[in-house]
Amino acid sequence: MTFFIKTYGCQMNVRDSEAVAAQLLAAGHELADSEQHADLVIVNTCSVRQKAEDKALGKLGLLVAAAGDRSPRRRVGVIGCMVQRLGIAIFERVPGLDFAIGTRRLSTVARVVARVKGGEGPILDADPDPVDEEEPVGHVPGAVTRFVNILYGCDRRCSYCIVPDVRGHERSRPAEDVLSEIRSLVADGVSEVTLLGQSVMQYGRRNPAWAAPPGPGEPCEPLPRLLHATNGIDGLRRVRFTTGHPSGCTEELAKVMAEAPRVCPHLHLPLQSGSDRVLARMRRGYTTAEYRAAVARLRSAVPGIAITTDVIVGFPAERIEDFEDTRRFLNEMGFDNAFIFKYSPRPNTAAAAWTDDVPAEEKLRRNKVLLAEQDRRSEKINGALVGREVEILVEGVSQRNVNRWSGRTGTNKITVFEPRAGLRPGDPAAVRIERVTAQTLYGALCRGTR
Ligand code: SAH
Ligand code: SF4
Ligand code: F3S
Repeated sequence: MTFFIKTYGCQMNVRDSEAVAAQLLAAGHELADSEQHADLVIVNTCSVRQKAEDKALGKLGLLVAAAGDRSPRRRVGVIGCMVQRLGIAIFERVPGLDFAIGTRRLSTVARVVARVKGGEGPILDADPDPVDEEEPVGHVPGAVTRFVNILYGCDRRCSYCIVPDVRGHERSRPAEDVLSEIRSLVADGVSEVTLLGQSVMQYGRRNPAWAAPPGPGEPCEPLPRLLHATNGIDGLRRVRFTTGHPSGCTEELAKVMAEAPRVCPHLHLPLQSGSDRVLARMRRGYTTAEYRAAVARLRSAVPGIAITTDVIVGFPAERIEDFEDTRRFLNEMGFDNAFIFKYSPRPNTAAAAWTDDVPAEEKLRRNKVLLAEQDRRSEKINGALVGREVEILVEGVSQRNVNRWSGRTGTNKITVFEPRAGLRPGDPAAVRIERVTAQTLYGALCRGTR
């Protein structure tokens, strides 16, 4: 069959979709160039906010309604966090689905698809704690940058968050598996990897990731040690890791970021709130003072490091003073970029028991205020690059304009430029920046760039 995967949600879902695609390709199916041309459409879902669920449900409804327009009938499957959350109830939400597979059972997709192709269905596979779990690890060749899982699940249980429920308890992957996956990606032409974990600094803290103690000169903490080892992989140009937490911004991490040339000077470090009162109720496990100290440690070791963040506005009992504290804190930190979310109560989380008492229009107002201020801040920070040369890794044709190419700086800023004959995705290049927006740098390739 030809298949197409539509992905909602975070980088972990992007990674899962790729692993599922690799599995289906290995089973002899073919990737369709668009949803319209696919015999099978799979929607990979996110539960983090109600809006994310509504989008996926809307999409699935349309797909199922149109499934009969094609002959033979198009198959429609759903995978990911919503399936894990809803279980069999997903079939009531979207009647007509052929299959639904949860986050812990993704290694079964090809087998389930074979059964569906043979006329069976609907099929559900969403065991929340499977004993025979096997994480799919395949990749689809042909890319410059790839995600690599290093930590599955999450045990932090921030009071608002559904991720621990839909992704299971925290499990670190053995470092040897991670490193051999990266080596084989590099052999397939990948230049940049991003190591993934919901709270990636937990890597190796609960269950050991390394079989042997660190050698002389190697970092002792598991994540810095993994970054150090990844930095030593021949042919790899860059390594990133996400998502950060202040507890992991140690001297060792700062040192490896400063000294290992392939480790990119960027960290996504979600703040969530700049009010200690709200942070405590969110159960984030740090205060604003600790967050500030973590950022200071990184900035003093890695001059020019870009720090980006997430913020939730309208958390239960967030008073206007709390919001103003967040606003001031964002200004003080001077983040390169920030994603601002309106609080959305999630079933069975601790915060769901508290009154969602910030009215929708007030959440929207707070959201807009922070977004507008962040836009100005990002534009100003990026503006300082005008006239300067930045090093990028070329990714290929720009998403917005087919005549332009794009790449990213080590600080993770998208950089758009006019390509030159002979330039290939994966090449490093220097670009002189001519103008900027809050989200993008625009410039010209410098002479002397291969
Ligand atoms: N593991 C990451 C976050 C994963 S979810 C971390 O620890 O920070 C991505 C972002 O979604 C979070 O950083 C948070 O800002 C937002 N988010 C999570 N749950 C939410 C909720 N119930 N309502 C609104 N935003 C939420
Ligand atoms: Fe959710 Fe907190 Fe875990 Fe991030 S660290 S996934 S916000 S519970
Ligand atoms: Fe990611 Fe959404 Fe699931 S943020 S882990 S896809 S709930």
